Amino acid sequence: MKRKIRTLFVASEVVPFAKTGGLADVSGALPKALARLGSDIKVVMPRYYTIDKNTLEHIPMALGVDMGAMGELWAGVYRTYLPDSEVEIYFIDHEAFYGRSGLYHESEAYEDNDKRFVFLSKAALQLCRALNFKPDIVHANDWHTATLPILLKTSLHEDDFFKESASVLTVHNLQHQGVFGKELMNVLGVGWEHFTPMELEAMDNVNLLKGGITFCDALTTVSKKYAREIQTPEFGFGLDEHLRAHAHKLYGILNGIDYTEWNPSVDKYIAVNYDVDTLEKKKKCKQDLQKRFNLPQREDVPLIGFVGRFVTQKGIELIATVIDGLLEMDIQVVMLGNGEFWAENFFSQVAAGHPDKFGCYIGYSNELAHQIEAGSDLFLMPSLFEPCGLNQIYSLRYGTLPIVRATGGLDDTIVNYDPQTKEGNGFKFYHATPDALYHTVKWAVETYHQEKDDFLHMQKNAMREHFSWLDSGTAYLDIYKALYYHQKIQRYK
Ligand code: ADP
Ligand code: GLC
Repeated sequence: MKRKIRTLFVASEVVPFAKTGGLADVSGALPKALARLGSDIKVVMPRYYTIDKNTLEHIPMALGVDMGAMGELWAGVYRTYLPDSEVEIYFIDHEAFYGRSGLYHESEAYEDNDKRFVFLSKAALQLCRALNFKPDIVHANDWHTATLPILLKTSLHEDDFFKESASVLTVHNLQHQGVFGKELMNVLGVGWEHFTPMELEAMDNVNLLKGGITFCDALTTVSKKYAREIQTPEFGFGLDEHLRAHAHKLYGILNGIDYTEWNPSVDKYIAVNYDVDTLEKKKKCKQDLQKRFNLPQREDVPLIGFVGRFVTQKGIELIATVIDGLLEMDIQVVMLGNGEFWAENFFSQVAAGHPDKFGCYIGYSNELAHQIEAGSDLFLMPSLFEPCGLNQIYSLRYGTLPIVRATGGLDDTIVNYDPQTKEGNGFKFYHATPDALYHTVKWAVETYHQEKDDFLHMQKNAMREHFSWLDSGTAYLDIYKALYYHQKIQRYK
């Protein structure tokens, strides 16, 4: 191909500027990989209030954004680069929509989230016009930016500027679909003829993710297993039938890992750096972690870590059900997370009741997340569903063996320990039951104590694995190129 594929990549959160979960990690890393592989890519996100304007370059332009029934609203623009790269990231500034302390909610979801993110998508397109950047590919992520593929195939289908742009929609989590009252049609500016169950409508509401799935040219999700799972009623969150209808354009591409950030040999947050050849130093990180949580600094006790949002997806009810039983074993458990109120309370109480065995930090701390990865022997991730999951992959690099439920990306990345062959990189269970979780933790703990050589062998296996963003980026770029040529061919028809 003679020139680089021009890509507009839009997301609601991007590391290191704003993050609530893995979407931000992906949006911070994938565009850099795509740029290295030869795409001319620009990233766009909101300029949330928490992102200091003074750290960004102000671009003297005002984007007029047609918000249909709301009239024309104006956006300011800021710019900087993704760290250690030449990838430009643009920030859409709009005080009324983004001048708040949360990304999506404070105690409750903001009631104008529909407009906030329709605005983001529309402003991103206006930005392309203002920069005269005609994207070959518009890459949207989750419901927040699913408006992009919808607009490109409806109101902008014949638009001179965008008529050759193809769209990719990546579903990071099907649970969140962006479902809003049908009045949103008047803001979207998409004809009511598209308000049908085949396109945008679900139960008399607008479902933005559904619309994105309908209209995108390629649909991706973040593991192969999840790509299959979401086509079933169990994992489809009501969209399984719609996804089966669009399965011909659905691909599963596993996320990569940013090993400049998540790597015990360079990690700046952990007590001692180590790698596969100096694994014995990991015990210093364990000591440090025990100290942080005021746990007895014992080397011989298996320390199990958890980092994640306290929501049903992550299996917190399962953990809560078995925690008393687990704590009868000679183990230590540390949990970092926040989310559902009952869970925050519950795990704080467990910590109060078992100060020598269980530590818990309610809140968000990137530093502590690194320290838990490095200091734990085992990492607990009993998710009910998990599109990809990043923490289990970080754990592998830190020689911290994951205990996971075999779902989505967890199933694709973790190979169950086989006592016969002594191979594997973790411990898996299949049924989302407290019993299965309990027995798998018990099995992992027994392996830790009784099969020390196997445990060490697995740790080393795990640390040598490599989940590269360049591999994932190559898979995305293949899709981009296929769409680009398809668009070209269509023009001659
Ligand atoms: P999800 O996106 O569903 O939350 P992932 O495993 O893909 O799950 O990504 C979660 C990301 O958020 C990881 O980088 C993890 O370290 C981070 N994370 C989650 N909760 C916390 C927390 N309380 N403190 C610090 N980091 C967290
Ligand atoms: C979502 C998923 C998680 C995935 C992340 C990044 O938040 O819950 O499994 O790793 O997106 O794709």
